[in-house]
Amino acid sequence: MAKTKTAFFCQNCGAQYPKWVGQCSSCKQWNTIVEEIVQKEEKKSWKSDNSPSKRTSRPLKLSEITNEKEIRLDAKDLEFNRVLGGGIVPGSLILLGGEPGIGKSTLLLQIALKLQYKTLYVSGEESQKQIKMRAERIHPNSETCFILTETKTQNIFQHISSVEPDLVVIDSIQTLHTDYIESAAGSISQIRECTAELIKFAKETNTPVILVGHITKDGTIAGPKILEHMVDTVLQFEGDRNYVYRILRSLKNRFGSTAELGIYEMQGSGLREVNNPSEVLISKNEEDLSGTAIAATVEGMRPLLIEIQALVSTAVYGTPQRSATGFNAKRLNMLLAVLEKRAGFKLAAKDVFLNITGGISVDDPAIDLAVLAAILSSNADIPIEKGVCFAAEIGLAGEVRPVQRVDRRILEAEKLGFNRIFVSKSNKIGLKNTGIQVQLVSKIEDVISNLFG
Ligand code: TYD
Ligand code: MG
Repeated sequence: MAKTKTAFFCQNCGAQYPKWVGQCSSCKQWNTIVEEIVQKEEKKSWKSDNSPSKRTSRPLKLSEITNEKEIRLDAKDLEFNRVLGGGIVPGSLILLGGEPGIGKSTLLLQIALKLQYKTLYVSGEESQKQIKMRAERIHPNSETCFILTETKTQNIFQHISSVEPDLVVIDSIQTLHTDYIESAAGSISQIRECTAELIKFAKETNTPVILVGHITKDGTIAGPKILEHMVDTVLQFEGDRNYVYRILRSLKNRFGSTAELGIYEMQGSGLREVNNPSEVLISKNEEDLSGTAIAATVEGMRPLLIEIQALVSTAVYGTPQRSATGFNAKRLNMLLAVLEKRAGFKLAAKDVFLNITGGISVDDPAIDLAVLAAILSSNADIPIEKGVCFAAEIGLAGEVRPVQRVDRRILEAEKLGFNRIFVSKSNKIGLKNTGIQVQLVSKIEDVISNLFG
């Protein structure tokens, strides 16, 4: 048996060392050196090693490559399909990251149960009984989903050979370990090696594999960055645990756009797809309340109307408080400075609190105008008229700037029964004969006189 050869690599810059050292001498980082395998024993892990003819590829001219529409597995989940760009591509490796308790296991178990194909759900975190309890809440009858609790890749591959599933779910990659590496499960070389084995399996059998990945304190997927390069698709499941809405985004997708977004609602019986998010994100208050404004945003390709609430009150302390939930605090400060300088509002002695309802966070600059309107409305204690919404960015000179995909925003607002939308004068609007009044504005003064005039 050939002996395994290892070397030490800096995880930061990639420098190689024959021995472990505390500090990398090329990038000066501490504790970044990790032992990794450079040449390993003959692998028995994924069997098709001895059939090299199976996957030999030869150079082809572009014209010779057929691009028949690839068949995708329907995940039976509109939001999930949408984020993937139309379903699960056979042979692809999908990595799903997200904070603990956000619902990653629930989402994947739900998909595995609903799918009409044979699926194997491998969990290294929960027992079969626990999974059964969860499954009973979600979708009790499934004849095609197999549950396995196992963490050793070699054993998993054995079970895969006997079950022959059409989809494999691994929860989570950090719990897996392979015999070919000494280090503990969850270490960088284990994660990298287990992923490599799974990729090999996926590509050779054309079976899609979905991996759950834990994330670190600063929000990136735990393990080497290289993990994200190795897989075909990286999805992120996010949301505020105190709220019911969850957003599924794609950060990388080799088979579709990364602009798509899926929205779910966590319920007692699993995650419900939210196909019409604008309706749930806007509260249906009968009374007019000051300090709320509706913004027409676009998340990815999807128009979304969201409600923004602001509270402006006299500062209790010398330094006024500024706090924003779901919105960039620096951007809030900038907008306040613009109001102070360009529109003469004395907000320096006021506390300002801003909140995007539903616990979602938005970084579309087009919500600037709605944020500003909410602040002004709270400051003056005058509610904004019903049926009004906003879609524009604010510049430092107090000008109202155009936004992308304005037509989609206008259409969505119209669909939800709004009757007036404020957009920038410089926006090119392709729509004709809309049922909604499009109010073109160029400066914040125009907006102020129009709303509170
Ligand atoms: P889970 O899928 O275990 O999260 P992760 O795998 O990302 O760590 O999510 C568990 C949370 O979801 C838990 O706090 C309970 C909640 N939940 C529901 O509200 N309804 C349900 O039907 C299920 C299965 C879980
Ligand atoms: Mg889990």
